[in-house]
Amino acid sequence: MTFEEIRVGGCCSYLVACGETCCGVLVDPELSQIDRTLALIAKAGVRLQYVIDTHTHADHFSATRELAHRLGIPAVMHRASAAPYVDLRVEDGETLIAGHLRMRVLHTPGHTEDSISLVLPDRVLTGDALLRLSTGRTDLPTGNPEALYDSLFGKLLRLDDTIAVYPGHNYKDAPVTTIGQEKAENPRFRKRDRVSFVEQMHALNLSMPDHLTEALRTNRTGGKTVAQLLDEAARQIAFMSMEEVRASVAAETSDLVILDVRERDAYETGHIPGARHAPRGQLELRVDQLLPDPTARSLTCCEFGKISTLAAATLRTLGFTRAVALDGGMKAWRDAGYPIKSGKEP
Ligand SMILES: [Fe+2]
Repeated sequence: MTFEEIRVGGCCSYLVACGETCCGVLVDPELSQIDRTLALIAKAGVRLQYVIDTHTHADHFSATRELAHRLGIPAVMHRASAAPYVDLRVEDGETLIAGHLRMRVLHTPGHTEDSISLVLPDRVLTGDALLRLSTGRTDLPTGNPEALYDSLFGKLLRLDDTIAVYPGHNYKDAPVTTIGQEKAENPRFRKRDRVSFVEQMHALNLSMPDHLTEALRTNRTGGKTVAQLLDEAARQIAFMSMEEVRASVAAETSDLVILDVRERDAYETGHIPGARHAPRGQLELRVDQLLPDPTARSLTCCEFGKISTLAAATLRTLGFTRAVALDGGMKAWRDAGYPIKSGKEP
């Protein structure tokens, strides 16, 4: 069997494949690790059959939709998942087969209502139900400590004591544990009755994860993250360094048209000398007036270099084939002490 862990921060995803047929599955892939994950799959010589999310993640961005789409394979989640892009919705007791590999699905709600664990002959992928010597939290949307109690004591802790635990999170680099070890040593299982367990979960008082709203928006709907939008735009364009732009401004003979896409106040407070004001919100509507020649060399700039990236990609889409964006933003330009002009557009 091929078994690889791909960890970023505290998030763990897993590549599991049959040693004989090279068919496999990918579990809980993370969006920022798409290239690394694809490289690992290629290096391992695995042909993926399923991409599986153990639950709707609230603290990081899932790559399941993107990878399922790119690889032309089904995205798998529990039936209770809200995500519209899920191709195969599984239920408790069902088995997923990849080559000679068989993975039994356990519905283990509590961290979320759509949480599943995947049981292999010698190990279990527990998502965020059971973590090594800890458990998933139950205070995020659809979390339920009573349900987690049932999932742990009624299902996961009833697996064979020798089964190894591979969770969805490993924040402290905890070494592999077994179900037997979890039963004996997990501090959250010291009190084994339901009421005490639920009280313990309610008392945890954890801070909310960063990006909670954006993670739930994208993971529940299949929509894109802001970082994804920016990455896609950046791949469609080229950038010009601040040095290069400063030299071009100083040369006065330059044919570079600089478009400052910020709001009017920001533009009038201080812009690159010679820059025209082309607020992002009106760019598409005003562009023919601002840039009548689509072959003109143009450069977009904004405060931090993000909106200008989107603006330059829009210009390229519209046919302005020489549109580039400033590598950096006006904040960096000011901090570098480069020339600034204030006041209205001439
Ligand atoms: Fe989670």
